[in-house]
Amino acid sequence: MSISPKNLPFPISLPTRRLQLRRLQRADAESLCAYRSLPEVARYQSWETYGPEDAARLLHDQQDRDIGMPGTWLQVAVVETRTGQMIGDFGLHCLADEPCQFEIGVTFAPDWQGQGYATEALECLLNYLFTERSARRIFATTDVLNVPAAALFRRLGFRQEAHHVEHRAYKGTWTSEYVFALLAREWEVRSHSHPKPGSVSTFAEI
Ligand SMILES: CC(C)(COP(=O)(O)OP(=O)(O)OC[C@H]1O[C@@H](n2cnc3c(N)ncnc32)[C@H](O)[C@@H]1OP(=O)(O)O)[C@@H](O)C(=O)NCCC(=O)NCCS
Repeated sequence: MSISPKNLPFPISLPTRRLQLRRLQRADAESLCAYRSLPEVARYQSWETYGPEDAARLLHDQQDRDIGMPGTWLQVAVVETRTGQMIGDFGLHCLADEPCQFEIGVTFAPDWQGQGYATEALECLLNYLFTERSARRIFATTDVLNVPAAALFRRLGFRQEAHHVEHRAYKGTWTSEYVFALLAREWEVRSHSHPKPGSVSTFAEI
């Protein structure tokens, strides 16, 4: 059987200037709980509370997962290289009917927000998905009240392609959401024409 890039597993480590992206590991349970259980982190997420059982279930479910399995979510850990601390995670949903499309979710610990870590990590992930996995479209849904999340996706060139108004009953209220999307061809144009968003020198102009 020929080995195409699409058959390769998620890399052991995807490095950025300050970070490493890798598969979730058993030892991540404590870090996951520590930040996912915080009310400010859970506010716009699918969970209300997050405890050791939730982390154990997630880690168990991830055991046989890999990138590009149609209809599944792969969780990716973000680790600060200098300290070895897990500071956040991404969820990558490979669509069941169109595995060249990925939905993305992102969660970072509050102590590590506001310093460009999420931008740096997401840029790396987008590069990987578009160039190594031949992704065609990557998209994310954010609560319209979640300003940092919308800013993150806009900063990396995502187009806002929908604004659903009070369309979903969520955590006791009717919620409005944006859908952000980025195509491979848009990412390619941006990569050639736009300064890297994660670099310190370019941040002031974004
Ligand atoms: C969504 C989320 C990951 C965004 O995190 P974030 O910290 O805003 O994003 P970044 O790490 O890229 O940091 C961006 C900020 O750091 C600043 N920054 C970026 N790079 C920098 C650098 N190299 N040096 C210094 N500052 C930098 C930016 O100016 C920006 O600041 P601002 O918020 O004052 O405009 C975070 O808010 C989060 O995890 N929230 C809880 C979970 C959640 O709601 N997830 C979304 C579900 S859809």
